Amino acid sequence: MSAVPISETEFAQLRDLIRERFGIYYDDTKQFLLQSRLQTRLLKCGIDSFAAYCRFLVVDPRRENEWSELASVLSNNETYFFRERSQLDILANEVVGDALKSGGRLRVWSAACSTGEEPLSLAMTLLESRRIGPAAITIKAGDLSPRALEKAGAGFYRELSFRATPVNMVQKYFRPFDNGFSIKEEVKRMVEFFRINLIDPEAVAAVGVMDAIFCRNVLIYFDKPTQKTVVQNFARVLRPGGYLFLGHAESIMRLTDLYEPVVTDSAIYYRLKMNHAAD
Ligand SMILES: C[S@@+](CC[C@H](N)C(=O)[O-])C[C@H]1O[C@@H](n2cnc3c(N)ncnc32)[C@H](O)[C@@H]1O
Repeated sequence: MSAVPISETEFAQLRDLIRERFGIYYDDTKQFLLQSRLQTRLLKCGIDSFAAYCRFLVVDPRRENEWSELASVLSNNETYFFRERSQLDILANEVVGDALKSGGRLRVWSAACSTGEEPLSLAMTLLESRRIGPAAITIKAGDLSPRALEKAGAGFYRELSFRATPVNMVQKYFRPFDNGFSIKEEVKRMVEFFRINLIDPEAVAAVGVMDAIFCRNVLIYFDKPTQKTVVQNFARVLRPGGYLFLGHAESIMRLTDLYEPVVTDSAIYYRLKMNHAAD
């Protein structure tokens, strides 16, 4: 069967619907990427034009189910264990240090956790630091993609996920299983996985107060106004002085002055200002 074409008008309409719903922004260079990514969805829905697919997403009684499928199809889930390790060292040193000075509880959120490598790396880093016991640690992990979360729940990983993992960590925290490795229960039970859309302020507020948020390699998929909305949403749950970690290609310097950037030799991160007023 030949591919269903997408016109410029259809692309513009679909792009707006996706941006409104998920924040994910497809610029003009991505028209054919979107067209090819969605061919299977059109086929599954029995729809033969993108104009009809847009209508389906707006008015069809089955649209919520289709949006959920779209969340899995549109998200880029690239991730691996111990990504940007210098930021994990800051978690083990600075963030844990602060928690120990103020009551001894630590609350960390992996805001777009994909298939789970990031929050599990947070858990292993904290176990390795031995400064704070698992019972005093809360690690929440959310993502938009139901398919990524399903994989996270299974806790099974193949070689590519371990490209930055020291061998001793694999031996200590994983069991060999069927051409890959399963995360051990003692690490897995430290992480609470759930579905979330970061552009929904009420969903973000429901996550509860956090000492640190890891939102790495996600803002790059959003346009500037959406990036601003998301980091403003975070300011409502981060405690004053709380830590925000972004990916190395991401910056919020020109977006908002709610946060103070901290630049070290090996990492950049942000701290929520003590007396901030939502801008
Ligand atoms: C490239 S992965 C980053 C994974 C991990 N944070 C890391 O740095 O390794 C981006 C993730 O962002 C998620 N995502 C995209 N838009 C989102 C949204 N509006 N709300 C929540 N998660 C979203 C995708 O589903 C995907 O799993």
